[in-house]
Amino acid sequence: MRLVNINHINGNETLGKAIHDIDGRRLLNAGVSLKPSIIQKLYEKGITSVYIDDSISEGIEIDEFLCHETKTHAKSIVHDEMKRLSQKRTMDYSKLSKVVDNILDEILSRKVDLINVKDVRMQDEQTFAHSVNVCVTSIALATKLSIPVSKIKSIAMGALLHDIGKALLPSSLLNKTKTLTPQENEEMKKHPLLGYNLIKDNAETTATTKVAVLMHHEHIDGNGYPMNLSGDKIHYSARIITICDEFDSTINDKNDNNVHNTTDAVEYLIGASGHIFDKSIVDELLKIVPIYDAGSIVLLSNGILGIVVKNNSVNLTRPVVRALYNPKTGEKFSKVRLIDLGTELSVKILREVEVNIDSVIKERVRI
Ligand SMILES: [Fe+2]
Repeated sequence: MRLVNINHINGNETLGKAIHDIDGRRLLNAGVSLKPSIIQKLYEKGITSVYIDDSISEGIEIDEFLCHETKTHAKSIVHDEMKRLSQKRTMDYSKLSKVVDNILDEILSRKVDLINVKDVRMQDEQTFAHSVNVCVTSIALATKLSIPVSKIKSIAMGALLHDIGKALLPSSLLNKTKTLTPQENEEMKKHPLLGYNLIKDNAETTATTKVAVLMHHEHIDGNGYPMNLSGDKIHYSARIITICDEFDSTINDKNDNNVHNTTDAVEYLIGASGHIFDKSIVDELLKIVPIYDAGSIVLLSNGILGIVVKNNSVNLTRPVVRALYNPKTGEKFSKVRLIDLGTELSVKILREVEVNIDSVIKERVRI
């Protein structure tokens, strides 16, 4: 199985994972043949990438960090509570708390060492899917930082609620896909304070959750908002959430039709370490996020195009790769040619390539 941009689907692939709507209703079953009419429907739903099963990705498994049921239920509750908030100015905190408990229990019991941050999302579930993803990544990161479970729960709640203030902003502003005007940008920047004001008097919400919501756009160098806090004046919970927030936004960008490389997002995090983000926390995140997800097509330094089969948690830049094709010689490899970069140290990955690999092989395209 592998995740591909739907622009790179030939029509002879089958869907690797079922697609569900926000209420958990199954829209498409796994195993469905991805004909052009189905691709068109996916476009209309705003889905730009899907998991497929094809001959190239045979035997590759994608680990779910959180099971589909838990994720769908969490998205649905966040959706309902944000709606309730925008319409009635109230929310059912106990429901959200239960969602966090479920996610936390599942992640802590699974003990998965690497997380998969890429998501298949519909346009209308973008905000809720983002909140749940930030919550999941924040739990994984806080666990890696050896933060006590009771504190992790408060951080997870802050992550789930981090953009709750947006429920009070006009939908025309939230749904705008073009660049915001300076005035609109200022309006948008009000959401951390709006969110904080919504929960500040809630007796069930911890102080950690409240400050996490308030400070999730503060930057280490003091150039963030709303208070221009710097360094460790920014609560550690917010320093964790801001990294997970930006990371998910970069990889699963609603305004972009491309599946982003994790490498691009990682480069951004590293580049912004020390001025936007807390470097010590970014360093820990990079220990649990595979740079090249299983199923990614990569170009190796020996000129071979291959597919990542399995990650090596000890060295995330050196996974096991199955050789597919050498664009220079035209040689097509059999399925058994595996290159374990953990032991074959003379070869390395140059970059991930987003291509229609079937066409590349068939038409002998040079990379
Ligand atoms: Fe935000």
